[in-house]
Amino acid sequence: MRWLGVLVVCACHVDAQSRGDAVRATSWHTWATLDTHTWIRSEQLLGRAPALRPLELESAPFVFDVLFSPAAAAHVETHGLARRDIASFPAFPPDAAIVKLVWYPLPQGGSIELPVWDGDAPRDTGNPTRTWSRTVTITDANLDDFIHDDHLLLVGAHVATKALPDWTWATFWWHDRPDDGPFAAGRPDTVRAAARHYLMNAAFTADEPCFNPYLEARFVDGESSSCLACHRRAIVGATTYLPVTHGRLPDDDPYFRGHIPTDYVWSLALEAR
Ligand code: HEC
Repeated sequence: MRWLGVLVVCACHVDAQSRGDAVRATSWHTWATLDTHTWIRSEQLLGRAPALRPLELESAPFVFDVLFSPAAAAHVETHGLARRDIASFPAFPPDAAIVKLVWYPLPQGGSIELPVWDGDAPRDTGNPTRTWSRTVTITDANLDDFIHDDHLLLVGAHVATKALPDWTWATFWWHDRPDDGPFAAGRPDTVRAAARHYLMNAAFTADEPCFNPYLEARFVDGESSSCLACHRRAIVGATTYLPVTHGRLPDDDPYFRGHIPTDYVWSLALEAR
């Protein structure tokens, strides 16, 4: 996999600033080279969840789906990981990757008021999009500002790659001013066309907050949530992933007692049968 070649993240003797820059460079590279055309949808792989599900806690018509890279899907199939009655859960291979995509439907010939995230302060009850301070009007004329699938506009994308044992975690979201602010930093020229309309945040540890406004701001404490902290808690047969927690649970934490972790993959934890 090409992104392995640029994975220069090392916790040892680089300072936090250059480590952060390396994490961003790796994640922009992932975005520039991401092509999910041959990937397998979770509903196909797991035989359960309907395609394009609504987001909990949201009143706007967002829908999401999860796609497994061919290597990730093959791993699930080879080891029967879509079943709950497994004795152990082998870790995914280093070339595995999984994405969670969130879309907003644009009616043909119509227009929508798309909420855009300008960094509102966290509210006690979470920040679902209906509470955001600004929207922009989107019509067919803006279609090419988005990665889109017919009239479904991609507003957010979570990307996890198994290039590190704890996976790499990066998230991308649409903005009408994609060249401003810290989440635009470092975007290389290799990111082209509509993909340039997306901001990015990434964190490869459980200690730094990292969230996608369209996906996690709606949770209580969502703005301080961490991809890795939450995904670490994915265990076979789990029934919930909330509330938001912080830090990386150690292997011997009581949370894991009597449970089989699903190598950070929540879809398998929640949907395997
Ligand atoms: C509070 C828990 C939580 C947080 C925080 C969280 N996720 Fe997830 N994520 C989930 C759940 C649950 C799913 C399964 C799909 C669903 O039901 O929404 C999921 C699905 C995914 C998937 C598809 C693979 C899988 O595990 O099913 C990826 C990739 C992903 N998230 C990446 C991220 C990234 C990147 C971040 C941080 C920017 C993040 N997640 C933050 C709970 C969380």
